[in-house]
Amino acid sequence: MAEVKIAVIGATGNVGQLMVSLIPEYFKEGVELIPAASENSVGRSIESPFGELKVVSIEEALRKKPHIALFSAGADTSLSYAKKFTAKGSYVIDNSSAWRMHDEIPLIVPEINGGILTQDARLIANPNCSTIQLTMVLEVLEKNFDLERVVVSTYQSVSGAGKDALNQLKNERNGGHTGTLPLRHPIEGNVIPHIDIFLENRYTKEEWKIMQETRKILALPQLKITATCVRVPVDTSHSESVNVELKKAFDTNEVVRLLEGAKGVTVKDKPKDGLYPMPLDSTGSDEVFVGRIRRDDTLPNGLNMWIVSDNLRKGAATNALQIARLVHEMKWVGAG
Ligand SMILES: NC(=O)c1ccc[n+]([C@@H]2O[C@H](COP(=O)([O-])OP(=O)(O)OC[C@H]3O[C@@H](n4cnc5c(N)ncnc54)[C@H](OP(=O)(O)O)[C@@H]3O)[C@@H](O)[C@H]2O)c1
Repeated sequence: MAEVKIAVIGATGNVGQLMVSLIPEYFKEGVELIPAASENSVGRSIESPFGELKVVSIEEALRKKPHIALFSAGADTSLSYAKKFTAKGSYVIDNSSAWRMHDEIPLIVPEINGGILTQDARLIANPNCSTIQLTMVLEVLEKNFDLERVVVSTYQSVSGAGKDALNQLKNERNGGHTGTLPLRHPIEGNVIPHIDIFLENRYTKEEWKIMQETRKILALPQLKITATCVRVPVDTSHSESVNVELKKAFDTNEVVRLLEGAKGVTVKDKPKDGLYPMPLDSTGSDEVFVGRIRRDDTLPNGLNMWIVSDNLRKGAATNALQIARLVHEMKWVGAG
């Protein structure tokens, strides 16, 4: 009998496919994988580390009562189904935005706040991809120098918008795209300052998510943070220009040293040698890369940085699987 039954809801998507392929890195043996997706994919075969498997419907996955259900099929699916799975005893790790800002739902980056998980919290939210890489660096600064204010501008890759958007980019590179554009505008040769819907306050929901989720993960509800989110014609890995004002005085070399010591963070900062984080180098890695670390002389304690990470890995699949492994290591799975 399988030691742990894991369902991936959205197993045919950009994130879901990666989750499936990465499971063996986090669960060494005894996994029964249940791949689920929309009705369009039910019955289709997918390659997995556990052999060729047939995609099932969510209802079928629910009937199989998985120990862990990794949801990556959009907010509507999570809203409809996540609690049905927890009611059957599953631990749900939800990659969508559906539950992240609910007070009773933990929003987890394991390196930062994995310690707040409890056996009873069966629904756990995985943060937005841009938020995860930002908080991995901000947490180090908060711990040592106290954050006063954060200004972040993102350069987000197309895979962050799902497989249809990535197909749009690929088609445009090959000479055109027919039909509706998932990204609304052409993306090849373009830069689009619009991710997710616009809100009444003229921010986009993506910008709102980064601001609110950062406050929640760092447990700093009053943190001054503002964001501008932009889509760029890059396949994978999001980049961020981050300006931070700190409450305490700092030495730039000490900041570099502290970031070098942070788990999951890699400093890449020899700019004169052409060494700084870039999407092409970051894609395929689980690390959050930071470079261009320099003082902002226009503020008493100002710092500028450039942060890059693979949005499908640490920004989604890896973080979710790290949470799943934490839950499994606690021996909560199947414990009633
Ligand atoms: N991409 C990122 O960088 C990233 C980062 C963090 C979070 N997320 C979140 O992760 C989720 C998935 O993103 P993605 O980029 O992997 O999207 P995607 O490539 O568009 O894949 C969507 C997946 O969800 C499935 N799905 C859609 N509607 C469904 C339904 N009604 N019932 C069951 N399955 C359904 C799709 O199945 P079919 O193939 O059958 O249509 C597919 O497997 C989203 O909530 C997104 O916001 C994405």
